[in-house]
Amino acid sequence: MKPISVGLLGIGTVGGGTFTVLERNREEITRRAGRAIAITVVADKDLARANSVVQNRARVIDDAWAVVNDPAVDIVVELIGGTKIAKDLMLKALENGKHVVTANKALLAQHGNEIFAAAQKKGVMVAFEAAVAGGVPIIKSLREGLAANRIEWIAGIINGTSNFILSEMRDKGASFDDVLKQAQKLGYAEADPTFDIEGVDAAHKLTIMAAIGFGIPMQFSAAYTEGISKLTREDIQYAEQLGYRIKLLGVTKRKANGIELRVHPTLIPARRLIANVEGVMNAVLVRGDAVGQTMYYGAGAGAEPTASAVVADLVDVARTMTADPEHRVPHLAFQPDRLSNVPILPMSEVETSYYLRLLVQDKTGVLADVTRILADLGISIDAMVQKEPSEGEDQTDIIMLTHQTVEKNINAAIAKIEALPVVASKVTRIRLEELG
Ligand code: HSE
Repeated sequence: MKPISVGLLGIGTVGGGTFTVLERNREEITRRAGRAIAITVVADKDLARANSVVQNRARVIDDAWAVVNDPAVDIVVELIGGTKIAKDLMLKALENGKHVVTANKALLAQHGNEIFAAAQKKGVMVAFEAAVAGGVPIIKSLREGLAANRIEWIAGIINGTSNFILSEMRDKGASFDDVLKQAQKLGYAEADPTFDIEGVDAAHKLTIMAAIGFGIPMQFSAAYTEGISKLTREDIQYAEQLGYRIKLLGVTKRKANGIELRVHPTLIPARRLIANVEGVMNAVLVRGDAVGQTMYYGAGAGAEPTASAVVADLVDVARTMTADPEHRVPHLAFQPDRLSNVPILPMSEVETSYYLRLLVQDKTGVLADVTRILADLGISIDAMVQKEPSEGEDQTDIIMLTHQTVEKNINAAIAKIEALPVVASKVTRIRLEELG
């Protein structure tokens, strides 16, 4: 049988890894797919870079449109990134009846509904394992391995750059700015690291997982996104003293009145496995009603780990091209006409516990005033630490952990606490998940 012909758009880090892995493991991949898979054409603006990787083993051109319009190409692998040109190219490839494999989480989180509808219309696949947590097969696990379950919640460390920064801040007591510079030097963070550190990249990935877990359309614009740039090493140390680690967590939960969809720094009990995921590694914890908790861990970025996911998708597509094309696994796990319109909850309705840090004057009755405000709003305190003021100071930190409450109650409490004359600065609030 003729090899399946793949057109590769973009041969940067992941594209290069894909080329290498396909080549190195060709024999086993062919045995798995039932047919050889060959990259026949590569499009990249940087022809010199492309030629140095490809070394005459495929055609190299600088025009991506020629690939998506090439009748000889069966599958287009989109590794250009971004949401403009990549979207137009992808829609064109689908219109031309080609299957698409992509690692583009921003594009899917924002335009996935339109893209999947276009694919559905043409009876072709859009495969995107590499879009979430790099080499970790979380899409396949959610979509197929856990198909028996009613998913209750998903919580993940899904941005390696921010996890690296938090790990270094905790380990070395370093400041956010210093570690960010180090991450950039090591090539982890992008030159413009906003998407990584402000939680946007994690929110893209979480949006995709929520859609698959709960059978809802992609709703990135409804995701709450808060990054790590305002975290201080003091908060990390206080959390540590109370038995918690702070992680940038993507959390999506099914509630009676809707779905929580949120990315923010989160205290997690230090004894949980996921709290010990350090450096650039990713991990996703999924709770299903039948299976209980399962955890998926591995490299969330990098050439070959991400290529591992891209090539697995190529094998999946190749299999459906050779056998049983009518019985594909749906893009979002649920049949497209059976998606649910359950709402994404506004942040004010989200329920969680909280870490609060207050700088207060060390005076009689201060604590009583603060706890009265919390009690009046029905917020129960779980743990509390008051630091002794430093020599010659009359102000000190109070750190409190609350039991679960609704976000609008904590917002009201914080506003009242900040209005107390004895409270000397803004209250630091970090959400806390027991993940039990
Ligand atoms: N920039 C991402 C991260 C990797 O730091 O995890 C690709 O999704």
